[in-house]
Amino acid sequence: SRFLRKPFEFSRQLLRVESCSITELQSLIPLAWTSLTQKLRRAPGISLLDQRKRFSTMPEIETNERDSELFSPPSDVRGMTELDRTAFKKTVTIPVLKVKKEIVNKLMRSLKRVALQRPGIKRVIEDPEDEESRLIMLDPCKMFTHDPFEKAELSILTQLNVIPQISEYNLELTYENFKSEEILKAVLPEGQDVTSGFSRVGHIAHLNLREHQLPFKHLIGQVMIDKNPGITSAVNKINNIDNTYRNFQMEVLSGEENMMTKVRENNYTYEFDFSKVYWNPRLSTEHSRITELLKSGDVLFDVFAGVGPFAIPVAKKNCTVFANDLNPESYKWLLHNCKLNKVDRKVKVFNLDGKDFLQGPVKEELMQQLGVSKERKHSVHIVMNLPAKAIEFLSAFKSLLDGQPCSSELLPTVHCYSFSKDADPAEDVRQRAGAVLGMSLEACSSVHPVRNVAPNKEMLCITFQIPASILYKNQSMNLENHEDPPIKRQRTDEGFSEEKTQIASNT
Ligand SMILES: C[S@@+](CC[C@H](N)C(=O)[O-])C[C@H]1O[C@@H](n2cnc3c(N)ncnc32)[C@H](O)[C@@H]1O
Repeated sequence: SRFLRKPFEFSRQLLRVESCSITELQSLIPLAWTSLTQKLRRAPGISLLDQRKRFSTMPEIETNERDSELFSPPSDVRGMTELDRTAFKKTVTIPVLKVKKEIVNKLMRSLKRVALQRPGIKRVIEDPEDEESRLIMLDPCKMFTHDPFEKAELSILTQLNVIPQISEYNLELTYENFKSEEILKAVLPEGQDVTSGFSRVGHIAHLNLREHQLPFKHLIGQVMIDKNPGITSAVNKINNIDNTYRNFQMEVLSGEENMMTKVRENNYTYEFDFSKVYWNPRLSTEHSRITELLKSGDVLFDVFAGVGPFAIPVAKKNCTVFANDLNPESYKWLLHNCKLNKVDRKVKVFNLDGKDFLQGPVKEELMQQLGVSKERKHSVHIVMNLPAKAIEFLSAFKSLLDGQPCSSELLPTVHCYSFSKDADPAEDVRQRAGAVLGMSLEACSSVHPVRNVAPNKEMLCITFQIPASILYKNQSMNLENHEDPPIKRQRTDEGFSEEKTQIASNT
């Protein structure tokens, strides 16, 4: 209230102060209606401005700064590690406008800009003195400017015969009235970064706390639960996902220990145990981007399927899906989610290493699909979303199939994900994927940026059709049907070196 008082004191000097008999109210700007309207008619706002100009000692405080001072929790919560909600009580003085109850709704529409907006605080309260009147809570920061009301607001006040008598109301703020950022800013050491962001996975808030926040981790977790409806558990990532199954090692900071959860993504429902499988809500756009590429009748091989966010939407489009994951828990939930979304007849589920999946079920199905009829119009897509490693798995396509190659338009399209920390991430991914396949992907691939994972770390998706010369055995005789011998680039200490490679040498 330190900052609040100053402008109010200033208002007291500016205008005659009249005590209000209402215990909690104190009139501050009791301008006679007639004199105000006269002034407004002459030049709305100007008389106030002129008067205020004389008080040049008023500190120039940024609205946000003043707002955060006024609405920050009491200073003695600083350093609190165990949440004590009662310590957040504080009384602040709020400017209010007294109006007849019949016109409240009409007026509120026009006073939106200046009305107080705080979580859990009513903008209109009963007048303890007069049951026919209401008090409109105003934003103190707006009231402390040179022109508290804009022309249009003043004009509506005039039309509705409202006396713009601004009074003080002592309002008690509690823990419920503070936003999570305000609470954490008040508790954590001054000047240190406060993060209140998290990924939401069903009922779970998934945080990634930094070193200096760790002493407050349980309190931060509890605040996240209190301030976000639907969140009943807060967990912190313990280390980076570098285990095989890409699930997070996590610590429950507060709330439910139960990590069994249910999420909705692009209108599909997924259930899983978040402590045992991979799920990232930031991939929903990518899941739908790939889904859009497939048409009814197409075939999808999902090599690293997780709990099904590519497989299930694609199956719903009446495509045939082969979905695989090495993690037995992902496999279990993938089966479950196929049933849950009623696509279990469309999806064949496997629990294999990606390479075995490619060289077993994928090979077998491709031999059938690509061999059947030259009339086939359906496309085959292979999704490989294991960004840390998927590029290595591309080698499984080399000489995978026997026999005569299918026509080029029927060749499978690969969507392979990768991380890159390179200055030119797209080029880096093209070169690394090309190096594994032993061909240049420069002219025959597209690279889509998926998301920024960390500063200087991008996730990308490279898409290309696997050339017959790579996919089929003994293709040296078919070389004349293909483009020039590709450039193979190999990483050296200095960067990339180039060498011409015969495609046939891949066999
Ligand atoms: C990054 S997640 C992607 C999951 C899913 N496609 C998605 O978009 O949410 C990678 C998945 O690959 C699985 N995985 C890891 N190594 C594997 C391997 N060698 N073979 C098959 N699956 C593997 C993990 O269990 C994990 O579910």
